[in-house]
Amino acid sequence: MLPGGQKDYEDACSTMQVPKTGVFFTSIGSQEVMLSRDARGEIVAFSGFCTHSFGKLDGGKVEGGEITCPHHGARFDIKTGKAKSACPNLPKFDVKIEGRRVLVKPNR
Ligand code: FES
Repeated sequence: MLPGGQKDYEDACSTMQVPKTGVFFTSIGSQEVMLSRDARGEIVAFSGFCTHSFGKLDGGKVEGGEITCPHHGARFDIKTGKAKSACPNLPKFDVKIEGRRVLVKPNR
């Protein structure tokens, strides 16, 4: 727990909800979160808002390890959050696994 009663990590989902290939979207507070697995199979979390003009990535087409933003077509690597087009990379969240729960540390 952070000073002021803020939680440092928030419960995001079950580990079972994050697919081996592909993405799972959820939200913690007002932040959209895109969860996926890195090259080692570890769960990673990125902002679910596109860095082009902050549309939700949820609903974007996932193919070949990339997600395409449904708004204007920006593409991001789902394992690393790296932009494949002329946009900043997706901000990454810290992740902690406790039992079968995925805890995500929101960016403040
Ligand atoms: S908001 Fe994603 S490409 Fe424009």
